[in-house]
Amino acid sequence: MLRQVFRIGSRRSYSYKSVRRPNLGALSGNVELEQSQKLKQPSGANASQNGNLAKQLAAKIQATGPITVAEYMREVLTNPQGGYYMNRDVFGREGDFITSPEISQIFGELVGIWLMNEWQKLGSPSPFQLVELGPGRGTLARDVLKVLSKFKSGAQFTMHMVEISPYLSQAQAQRFCYKHEVLPEGEQLSHYQLGTTATGTQVFWHRRLEDVPAGFSLVLAHEFFDALPVHKLQLIDGQWQEVLIDVDTKSTTADFRYVLSKAQTPVSQLFKPVQQEQRTCLEYSLEAERHVRLLSERLEQHGGIALIMDYGHFGDKTDTFRAFKQHALHEPLLAPGTADLTADVDFRHLKHVAEMHGDIHCCGPVQQGAFLRNMQGEVRLEQLLAHALPENQSIIRSGYEMLTDPNQMGSRFKFLAMFPGVVAAHLEKYPVAGFG
Ligand SMILES: C[S@@+](CC[C@H](N)C(=O)[O-])C[C@H]1O[C@@H](n2cnc3c(N)ncnc32)[C@H](O)[C@@H]1O
Repeated sequence: MLRQVFRIGSRRSYSYKSVRRPNLGALSGNVELEQSQKLKQPSGANASQNGNLAKQLAAKIQATGPITVAEYMREVLTNPQGGYYMNRDVFGREGDFITSPEISQIFGELVGIWLMNEWQKLGSPSPFQLVELGPGRGTLARDVLKVLSKFKSGAQFTMHMVEISPYLSQAQAQRFCYKHEVLPEGEQLSHYQLGTTATGTQVFWHRRLEDVPAGFSLVLAHEFFDALPVHKLQLIDGQWQEVLIDVDTKSTTADFRYVLSKAQTPVSQLFKPVQQEQRTCLEYSLEAERHVRLLSERLEQHGGIALIMDYGHFGDKTDTFRAFKQHALHEPLLAPGTADLTADVDFRHLKHVAEMHGDIHCCGPVQQGAFLRNMQGEVRLEQLLAHALPENQSIIRSGYEMLTDPNQMGSRFKFLAMFPGVVAAHLEKYPVAGFG
């Protein structure tokens, strides 16, 4: 217990991702095609920061033309060589941002209790799979695992981490496995790493959600969807057009700039706005849509529950694409690979896709503060305080406040739950905890 208390204490002073971002307003309204505005660089930026990834991206653009914001984001975050997530720990004091599970153990514990409560209401199916998309340092999985080990009452389960980063997958294994092995390249397996927890649970690491075996699954995604690539679209003269990224040829460094596509792109053609869409400038994530479709199919065919937790909006934000470095905003088109890129999750779109694509019953989104309070977060807080050293009390309290205060993470972060449609009537009778 003391170790946990110290863990909270050592994290408290970092910042989570804020909302401010560079202004893309220059691209809305009466812009001329291919006429772009170079975004202002922060002072201290120089060519040497850009590195190989910037050169690779510039070479590609020069060879084949401007790329979509989604392609830029995908390369910057997950390029096997220089991708932001691929080769280092990006969290905490030495990193660029802090996430809720890293701020307080209360977060993971309440998520674990929620999962067990809803699983029991569905008849405690066994065996089941605990699946996490983008587990980061593995802190949420570790805290949830502690709860599951206590409350699973004899049920069998395996863990499945969907993680693209070889570095972070190792960090996760070290966090909650007593042994693990990375499998040799070239093995035709759906997983690339295998581990065993101290309580004997088998853990598999997969690169893609598609690779997780079929079966009743409890799926968690915390700050995963915001890392999925977004396309930026603008409605001009009644037609959706895509914002692209080009090299700034006037510069001697490998800086990039936004341009509007001259012609329709595959995504601008494919994009179908929801009926009530009012925005003329928005972000659209095909990857997020693909993941929600996969989740919907999985839940419908094999049963399970998914909980998506992220910062986001309900279809009303326009420009949220931004970069984060060392706990401060960073220019997204500068030194790609050295800063996190993120965009707020459009929960209205995710919900729409889930409900349209499959027979899925969605709950929420609700604000994080409301969810944690509904899950009796204060009771757990008081328990922790009762056992904490006096010098740690204010730190524990402020960690919980940070998660729940509407002016901090309490309102920006939202929870969306997905259930198979067949249990909708059951859930009417026995309402889903946390969402009331
Ligand atoms: C912002 S971090 C969130 C970490 C963790 N869930 C937390 O809240 O502390 C995003 C995580 O998703 C992973 N990730 C990003 N894009 C991915 C992708 N396309 N497929 C699988 N994992 C991905 C990253 O490597 C990282 O583990």
